[in-house]
Amino acid sequence: MTEPVSHPDHILCAWGIARDFGGVHALRDVDLHVVRGTITGLIGPNGSGKTTMFQVISGMDQGATGTISFDDESILGWRPSQIYRRGLARTFQLSRVFPELTVLENLVVAGSRHDRSVEERAFGLLERVRLREYAKVRGKNLSYGQQKLVEFLRVLMSDPALILLDEPAAGVNPTLRQTLWDMVRHLNGLGTTFLVIEHNMEVIADLCSDVYVLSEGEMIAHGDFAAIRNNEQVLEAYFGKKRKSGTA
Ligand SMILES: Nc1ncnc2c1ncn2[C@@H]1O[C@H](COP(=O)(O)OP(=O)(O)OP(=O)(O)O)[C@@H](O)[C@H]1O
Ligand SMILES: [Mg+2]
Repeated sequence: MTEPVSHPDHILCAWGIARDFGGVHALRDVDLHVVRGTITGLIGPNGSGKTTMFQVISGMDQGATGTISFDDESILGWRPSQIYRRGLARTFQLSRVFPELTVLENLVVAGSRHDRSVEERAFGLLERVRLREYAKVRGKNLSYGQQKLVEFLRVLMSDPALILLDEPAAGVNPTLRQTLWDMVRHLNGLGTTFLVIEHNMEVIADLCSDVYVLSEGEMIAHGDFAAIRNNEQVLEAYFGKKRKSGTA
């Protein structure tokens, strides 16, 4: 663990995060820093603690120890609703669209910090991802990919400064997936910061300036994608064996 000193470039800083589940060390002394304005990647094999990290950061898991600062405020122990209102939002690994509400209602319930009317904003977002014609369709009648996209749009309704995306493209068809990543890039261009869990390394290489790698609850590497992909510990975590030195 490094000393908890906030850096003005960092929108999110986590130091020494630990979370145990009855003897399972889901997170062990994890440090993670997200630079404002970036799309930062969080990768690691299945069960390495990625979602647990999001649970802790978003306040949904209150059982962790350590320090977390968001926009220079210490948020560990805050309720999820407080963290959300402060401007940190997340999506879930499995879609959580309200099944009985229409697409429009799913967005409108999330409210907005904007002056523009909430509905107008919702329609604008739906237009942008070519889902406007689905405004009156109930959540349960959407394809899984459409549900994940709507969940993402719902998060955007509050205009968060930092968005945590937990495998947003998993189970989404290639066209919608492209729409989703284009939207992420577009919003990032407008200033939104992202922390993204994603298993597709091409996407990570393409979008992320900064990548963190978890393995069995420990942060084993951090750097740009080029550095990560050649890191021995990362290769070992993914492929389970040490390579002979000298092999690329
Ligand atoms: N609520 C919980 N109770 C008990 N164990 C848990 C709980 N949540 C997570 N774990 C355990 O913590 C470890 C990390 O799980 P986590 O879901 O964070 O992994 P992940 O990196 O998101 O994996 P995946 O890529 O499969 O989504 C796993 O061993 C998991 O079984
Ligand atoms: Mg997960």
